[in-house]
Amino acid sequence: MRSKPSYTSVPVELGQRRYDVLIGAGLLAHAAGLIGDRLEARKYGIVTDENLAKHHLAVLEAALGAAGRHAGTVVLPPGESTKSLAHLGAVTDRLIEMGLERGDLVIALGGGVIGDITGFAASIVRRGMRYVQIPTSLLAQVDSSVGGKTAINSQYGKNLIGAFHQPSLVIADTEVLSTLSPRERRAGYAEVVKYGLLGDKPFFEWLDVHWRSLFGNDPAVLAEAVERSVRAKAAIVARDETETGDRMLLNLGHTFGHALEAWAGYSSRLLHGEAVAIGMAQAFRFSEAQGLSAKGTAARVEAHLQGIGLPTRIADIQGPDRPDVDTLMKLMAQDKKVRAGQMTFILVRGIGDAFVTRDVDPVALHGFLATEVAACPSKSV
Ligand code: GLY
Repeated sequence: MRSKPSYTSVPVELGQRRYDVLIGAGLLAHAAGLIGDRLEARKYGIVTDENLAKHHLAVLEAALGAAGRHAGTVVLPPGESTKSLAHLGAVTDRLIEMGLERGDLVIALGGGVIGDITGFAASIVRRGMRYVQIPTSLLAQVDSSVGGKTAINSQYGKNLIGAFHQPSLVIADTEVLSTLSPRERRAGYAEVVKYGLLGDKPFFEWLDVHWRSLFGNDPAVLAEAVERSVRAKAAIVARDETETGDRMLLNLGHTFGHALEAWAGYSSRLLHGEAVAIGMAQAFRFSEAQGLSAKGTAARVEAHLQGIGLPTRIADIQGPDRPDVDTLMKLMAQDKKVRAGQMTFILVRGIGDAFVTRDVDPVALHGFLATEVAACPSKSV
């Protein structure tokens, strides 16, 4: 095994449920020690998916096996459809069959899907077990592994069955990101730049200078981008754990983006991060159209996202068909942030200055979406 890795530790300050996010290269092989130094437990059960099993599982199993902690592994199919009641039942059964007790640990090794279903399983097995997130995608490292949102999907929508259940530790090994495809990495980056766009203009400006190094796998730049994102998320979660206020800011681009994602059938046609990129560009264009932000702000954001290779317009979505405005309005109205029939939007006064509002004129919104759809070269269906 290589010598002890160096890492940064970012605390998520939630009183008795506080935990650390460890960020560094090569942490996976040291997982047993990193966990054992912080959390008392007899055995650990791993949940992962078939893709991760090919790339990273052996390293983790070897590390836990050498420490005499490995109770077993559940390997799930990859993809959003894994977040189902059937798979949840399979995971909870396997964790119980492994003989894990309430004081033992569950480990989620994977991206957002694995983190979400594993965290939820941990929240209900034996009335609640502790779990450790080992996120393997950029999106999971900077967003979904931190903050305790866990869920599976219902036939009525995404993430509708779940719980807030905070992990006891997050280990973000930036080295594992090298196995991501360029498309997955770009999609994850949308959630990185989101932190700059919603509340930290200097971070956006830093990313604008350094994004090429980040995509070129410069370890220092990658680690700094992950750390600054996690610090931003940890601060928001500490202020508003259950999303009654500030945490909604993390949904910048998501009300617009989720509607497009739902319209595209949550398929590989439009990855979540790509939908968020279009949604953020739309939030900036809509804010500018409403006179909330200075002219040219949206163009600056779009230029940045386009430079990365992310989509910024409905026309950028693969395939010939396009959503119509009423479909998008209906899909937005199903958003989880709807309160008393009113949609919640995250709009902006400028880069790094987002705010939450329910005060959006539906007529103006309809007109804006009509312009967005009309800008597509192909016909609405
Ligand atoms: N992904 C948004 C949140 O954790 O609140």
